[in-house]
Amino acid sequence: MATGIPKRKKQHKKKENYNLTYPNKISEENIFSGEKDRHILIKQWGTSSLTEVINSLYWGDNLATLRSLLEDKSIKGKIRLVYIDPPFATQSIFHSRQLKHAYDDILTDTEYIEFLRQRLIIIRELMATDGSIYIHLDEKMVFEMKIILDEIFGKTNFQNCITRKKCNPKNYTRKRFGNISDYILFYTKSSKFIWNKQFEPLTEDRAKEYQYVEEKTGRRFMKVPIHAPGIRNGETGKPWRNMLPPPGKHWQYTPSKLDELDKRGEIYWSSNGNPRRKVYLDENPGIGVQDIWLDFKDAHNQNIKITGYPTEKNPNLIKRIVEASSNPGDLVLDCFSGSGTTLAVADNLERSWIGIDSSIEAIKTTLLRFKNGTKAMGDFVSHSSKKKESNSKQLSFNLSKGSIQEKQYDYRSITNFRLMASRNIEKQSLNEISVFLNDY
Ligand SMILES: C[S@@+](CC[C@H](N)C(=O)[O-])C[C@H]1O[C@@H](n2cnc3c(N)ncnc32)[C@H](O)[C@@H]1O
Repeated sequence: MATGIPKRKKQHKKKENYNLTYPNKISEENIFSGEKDRHILIKQWGTSSLTEVINSLYWGDNLATLRSLLEDKSIKGKIRLVYIDPPFATQSIFHSRQLKHAYDDILTDTEYIEFLRQRLIIIRELMATDGSIYIHLDEKMVFEMKIILDEIFGKTNFQNCITRKKCNPKNYTRKRFGNISDYILFYTKSSKFIWNKQFEPLTEDRAKEYQYVEEKTGRRFMKVPIHAPGIRNGETGKPWRNMLPPPGKHWQYTPSKLDELDKRGEIYWSSNGNPRRKVYLDENPGIGVQDIWLDFKDAHNQNIKITGYPTEKNPNLIKRIVEASSNPGDLVLDCFSGSGTTLAVADNLERSWIGIDSSIEAIKTTLLRFKNGTKAMGDFVSHSSKKKESNSKQLSFNLSKGSIQEKQYDYRSITNFRLMASRNIEKQSLNEISVFLNDY
């Protein structure tokens, strides 16, 4: 049957594990015993106390770098949140808006799976027991990686497959439906994890339900019954103000609590003396966020400021993830950090962070973002400040007129971090960075 509420049937059968098998899949033991990187400090900005983790941007291959982080007691088992946006197996070579080579995305099939699997196994060890990981992929590899992630983190620690609308509808000429989505797989290390429920502002239709306005305060409210189905013999079944609950019902609150509500003016009395509770619009946090995210299209596909790095993600998307799965002071890792979106958002939300990227263009872009923020580029259209102001007023009233994507993400510059380079970085590239840093 396609509709109705399905009844769960308990199965006492032993669960069978299944794996993805392919020729070059190496053992976990071999993954951990592989080469570790050693890093040199290129430059440190600001100061950090000895006890706190220093925000670090590592330049080098993430596999050997992640292995080396396993040896650091202040990091191993301490990472509360990981967001990664690895190559998607597109078989493309990516350049920045300034036409500088950024990175190659050429691995496919089992080579790709094994590339990511090895890194994910080490990441699991770096994560705190109550940590979370979000893996951003598209339809090319998400299904294979779901099986691999179940192997690594356990099927029961799979929390969501979030569908993100990545761009506006395209005028597709191919004989298939337009592709405008990608996916974020959300896993946790255990069943106990940090979770800060996220809300979307109420839609205007929902807000219209709050149709009454309190004279004294101007607050909008709706009226709801103060009784609920079922007979109770305790306090909530007793008379209140000489009234019994309607037949077959009970009061939702004890008579003393109802007195309190009434004293605060939160009971609405109809002309024929029927009490109802006022539920205020400004106390409604909104609707809990679901697993389809429409508001965070790629930075290149909307009018928000960008760094110009290819495949740069929307900072508001990362903000939602960081806020949902970490708290201020927590350590956040992005080991495919690209233009540094995760690092900048984490820093702005007062988390510590570790970023890793092997591309010199990514490192330069991240450093520029930390200093100057993002820029209006290409077809950027500025929204008038007046419109933004009225928008934010609306949002504070929990009415969403403009969509979240239109809100600019404002960065403050990042001043407390260090840049570390892998020992394997070629001399020529090290020279290039030092010239870049001379002008920085
Ligand atoms: C899709 S981009 C990430 C974009 C990023 N989320 C942003 O908002 O800018 C993937 C990044 O992974 C990096 N990368 C690919 N393979 C890597 C590896 N083995 N080690 C470190 N970084 C790697 C690339 O250089 C590229 O910057």
